[in-house]
Parts: sequence; C-alpha cells; structure tokens
Amino acid sequence: GAAMDIATRVVRWQAAHGRHHLPWQQTRDPYRVWLSEIMLQQTQVSTVLDYYPRFLQRFPDVAALAAAPLDDVLALWSGLGYYSRARNLHRCAQQVVAVHGGVFPATAEVLATLPGIGRSTAGAIAAFCFSQRVPILDANVRRVLTRVLAFGEDLAAVRNERQLWAHAHDLLPVDDLDDAMPRYTQGLMDLGAGWCLPRKPRCDLCPLGEVCAARRAGDPEKYPVRTRK
Ligand code: ADE
Repeated sequence: GAAMDIATRVVRWQAAHGRHHLPWQQTRDPYRVWLSEIMLQQTQVSTVLDYYPRFLQRFPDVAALAAAPLDDVLALWSGLGYYSRARNLHRCAQQVVAVHGGVFPATAEVLATLPGIGRSTAGAIAAFCFSQRVPILDANVRRVLTRVLAFGEDLAAVRNERQLWAHAHDLLPVDDLDDAMPRYTQGLMDLGAGWCLPRKPRCDLCPLGEVCAARRAGDPEKYPVRTRK
C-alpha cells in the first residue's frame, strides 16, 4: 500500500510522543506564542521556562509591553542575552499597537513585516495560533527536512534556500488543518530537538525513518549542506 505521507507521520507521532506540556503550547494567544518563539530563538527551553512566566506576569499583553519603558523590558530580559531580541520585542509590541490596533496579524505574511519576526517565526506563530497552512524552517527543522528529502544543494545560495522553503510548503498537511498545523509544526520542532540530532540521529526511533532519503542513503549527518555562513 501507499506509504503514509510525511505530514501524517509527523502529526500522529506528535500526538503520541511529542511535547505537550510546554506553557506556550497551552494557548493560542499570539502574544504568548510570539514571546515564546522570540525567547526560544537563541535560548534553550529549560532557561525560557524560567523567564517566560515572569515576563508574562509583568507584561500580560501586548499593550502592557508597548507602554513599558525599554529599560524595564531589558531588565526582565537580563540573562537571556542577545539583547537586540528585547529591543525588537519592544518595537514589535509598539508596532502591533500603532499599526494593527493592538491585535496581532493573523497571517505569516503580515507577521513577517514586524520587527524581529522572520519568515520562520512568522510561520510558527501563524501555524500555532491560526492554523495557517505555512511552513517553518528554523535550524532544527532545516536539518529534519533536508535529511528526509536528501536535499543536498548548498543552502548558502539564496536560490537553494528558496527551493527548500518551497519543498517545506509542499510537505504541509492538507486535511484537518485546525489540529494538524499546530501539531505538525510542533512535531517537526520536537523531532529536530530530540531525534534528528546534528550527530548520531536516532533514525531507528524516528517516525520518518522509513521514508527518510538520507537515512536510506546511509549518511544523514551530511545534511544540511552549507558552504559558508
Ligand atoms: N523552539 C522554538 N519553538 C519552540 C516550541 N514551540 N517548542 C519548543 N521548542 C521550540
């Protein structure tokens, strides 16, 4: 019979074996999801778990964050590092208030116009909060997808990066999107963080093991290919 498609495998695996208890998974409030994605960009989950609730307690919504002095935001960010994230966070909140009436845009395309929100973060927010059928492609997911597809083109070239985005779009779920998009998005993140590791990936335990072209070829560790940074 036909092999179960990649999206279905990821969605079913996420439901059975993925992470479900992270605080930012208990909401579809784009403010809360956005804050978690920005914190998680360069900081590990265990550290974010410590900072996230304190930040939300002080700034419970986008209006509170926008109205706060930048120094207060930086003070609560202290220890997370990469302070441009905190400056962009504050600017983004102000822009949501000034340009979007205090309501986060509901599409990845418009989210990506905001300070500090790149294409992948915009996709994550849109998929998690609005079940929009859009891909993500952060470093972990890039590793998962280049391996599944045995995509060996050099990602330093914009053309190849664009092609990978197109592939990522083609692999998205097609049915039951309200449930499937958040699950699929989280599932790819979970696989990248815990199974499809840079070295010694756990292919035997991966739900994509049977359909992974890099595993079949015997060298998953060579992906992704990037000549320069
Ligand atoms: N890293 C980036 N986004 C994440 C999420 N939603 N859950 C866990 N780790 C992440």
